[in-house]
Amino acid sequence: MKRLAILTSGGDAPGMNAAIRAATLLATAKGCEVFGVRHGYQGLLDGEIEPLGPAEVSGIIREGGTILGSARCLAFHEREGRDQARTHLAERGIEGLIVIGGNGSLTGMRAIIDPEECSTGLKAIGIPASIDNDVGHTRLAIGVDTAINTIVDACDKISDTASAHDRTFIVEVMGRDCGYLAMTSAVAAAADAVLFPESNKTPEEIVDQLTRTILKAQKRTHRSKRVLVIKAEGVAISTDQLKQQVDARLRETHGESGPKVETRVTVLGHVVRGGRPSAQDRLVASRLANTAVAGLLRGKSAKMSAWMPPHDLPKEIAEPSPNDPQCGLVDIDAVLAETRAMLEGDSPFVQWRRRIFAEIEDALSL
Ligand code: F6P
Repeated sequence: MKRLAILTSGGDAPGMNAAIRAATLLATAKGCEVFGVRHGYQGLLDGEIEPLGPAEVSGIIREGGTILGSARCLAFHEREGRDQARTHLAERGIEGLIVIGGNGSLTGMRAIIDPEECSTGLKAIGIPASIDNDVGHTRLAIGVDTAINTIVDACDKISDTASAHDRTFIVEVMGRDCGYLAMTSAVAAAADAVLFPESNKTPEEIVDQLTRTILKAQKRTHRSKRVLVIKAEGVAISTDQLKQQVDARLRETHGESGPKVETRVTVLGHVVRGGRPSAQDRLVASRLANTAVAGLLRGKSAKMSAWMPPHDLPKEIAEPSPNDPQCGLVDIDAVLAETRAMLEGDSPFVQWRRRIFAEIEDALSL
């Protein structure tokens, strides 16, 4: 393989630049010409493809977001759009594509090399990047570690004021339909409760749970009555409604003479997606990129470079990286199937997460 291209797509994630840099440097060192596609699949359709070399990637390891830009692209869902993209790559003699992104981006990658449509011999390998950590068969995606650190940092600050005023704070974090960021940051920030979509609780059950947690905290005598609740954005009740209903429930339970609990809401939103990547994200990104480049150069395609893929995957689906014990290449169809199963709650891995949190729920609020 003499020419390869790199694109980032979907929501940006801190560490994407580290992956772009590592892939560019490693492929260049092996004698390849490297190209960067601007603005994800939309840029591929529009032929926005430019050379990338050591000068272009110098210093970017420290930067959040993606120097290549990202975009949502409806035209790529159509065969005509994908054909146009393949033509742009073939015209430049590009034989390999590295796609850095989440579920939607990896689905797009699968489509562009679909043997039913693609006659150019294009090969592609994906690298999981999404703060949501909702991609199957990889223990981590690029961006997750930085996002958790951002949330924990914000919660530590909120905790200071919550403790000083004995207040309850509901902190909403990103994650789309996945509760991973909420669960992990709740443990790391010593939250009193965590609300995540995988628990399948009804809004009524969630209001009950939170009211109980707050009333339990009111009985504390020797320390602050602060309550920190981390709520994943995908939970079945909006954060504002949750606050209103919990406030109403507290008033009903105790009337005017009851404990005066002040509840506040903080929605962290896109703050969670930005910022300088952590050292861990830079390393994970660089090592995943190494596995992806080495795979393409060995002629592999239709794979995702995965971080600690499960040990029990059959050999036909997953192969260890020959030069990195933490990484492997996993068949893209298996990745997309597991991602769907995680979303639908059928994945044993997601069921395990749910069980663990059901077991520790009472301990969190002690
Ligand atoms: O997938 C990453 C993510 O940040 C999700 O956590 C969030 O739901 C979504 O993207 C937000 O997307 P947008 O930036 O397009 O609003």
